[in-house]
Amino acid sequence: MKIYIGNDHTGVEMKDFIKNHLVNNGYEVIDLGTNTQQSVDYPNFGKDVAQKTVADPGSFGIVICGTGIGISIAANKVKGARAALCYEQETAKLSREHNNANILALGARVIANHKAIGLVDIFLSTEFEGDRHSKRVDMLND
Ligand code: RB5
Repeated sequence: MKIYIGNDHTGVEMKDFIKNHLVNNGYEVIDLGTNTQQSVDYPNFGKDVAQKTVADPGSFGIVICGTGIGISIAANKVKGARAALCYEQETAKLSREHNNANILALGARVIANHKAIGLVDIFLSTEFEGDRHSKRVDMLND
């Protein structure tokens, strides 16, 4: 499975942590984020990850900024992107089951790296339930 990951300057450490975990578990990871502490603008990274994820069916995106808020807003401006900002496991699970989220947004300043790994694992291993949720997800795309 291919994962597009992107981050601003606040998310470098978390990105590296997640990237190592994913590569060690056999995922193909495309790193679109910044790699230094020099301040950058999160909208550019949210947009880039979202565009590439949407253009590559079957892939997923992960976006990281300080809170996850700004970069999730940016990602969701891209048609076909369904970025879910998750701080705990239940929303990571439901974002897949109900919303068919294709991008996970994380806040590096508000959750620990080990917690982020847990959210990533749940997000990537949970299937969309389809059924009554399909119509609603189609409405999002429209
Ligand atoms: C950068 O200082 C910070 O504003 C950004 O990482 C993010 O938290 C925005 O939502």
